[in-house]
Amino acid sequence: MLLADWALGLGLVLVCAALFIRSGAFDVAASKPHSLLTYWITQATMTHSVKLHARDIAAPTPFTAGQVIAGFCAYETHCVMCHGAPSVARQPWVNGMTPDPPYLIDAPQRWRPAELFWIIRHGVKMTAMPAWEASMSDRETWNVVAFLEAAPNRQPGLYTKMRQAGLCPPASGQ
Ligand code: HEC
Repeated sequence: MLLADWALGLGLVLVCAALFIRSGAFDVAASKPHSLLTYWITQATMTHSVKLHARDIAAPTPFTAGQVIAGFCAYETHCVMCHGAPSVARQPWVNGMTPDPPYLIDAPQRWRPAELFWIIRHGVKMTAMPAWEASMSDRETWNVVAFLEAAPNRQPGLYTKMRQAGLCPPASGQ
């Protein structure tokens, strides 16, 4: 009897969910922010997922200055348009994304190096964060992590000085 009640309850929940989806009532417009509930559910799901999936990755630390510069170049090519940098604004069209890409200045406070590596490699479903595993090798991905962990990702003015120094090979950027 108890089992039948549970099955009935579950069936009702599934029917209601299907009706809600079919009704079109959920607004998928990216021009409006997530509701607080949707925001909490998606952020909590993402945080726990990243922490679980990255738990067995060992970061090849300490990172070298060469890695930070190589990571800076890759960041210039692949990331800065969406995530910006100290004293460098994101592209204006990025404001139309929901969720919008955060500045990564304090990313090392939120994530361990292995977690940053995992996010970059695999991306985040249902956001505009792409998976880079097809276009960046493990080595290049660790370089970007080295850059995110280092001072140029935080100190105002240093990023633009590195830009002006012409550190990156013209076409490769990695
Ligand atoms: C097309 C835009 C876009 C590009 C290009 C992009 N990202 Fe993202 N990224 C996002 C979005 C959107 C999120 C937000 C995901 C969320 O809120 O769950 C994100 C999230 C992240 C996060 C997690 C931030 C946090 O603290 O929650 C990291 C780290 C990150 N991106 C790194 C990178 C790096 C490194 C690159 C370049 C290799 C890159 N991203 C390129 C859109 C982009």
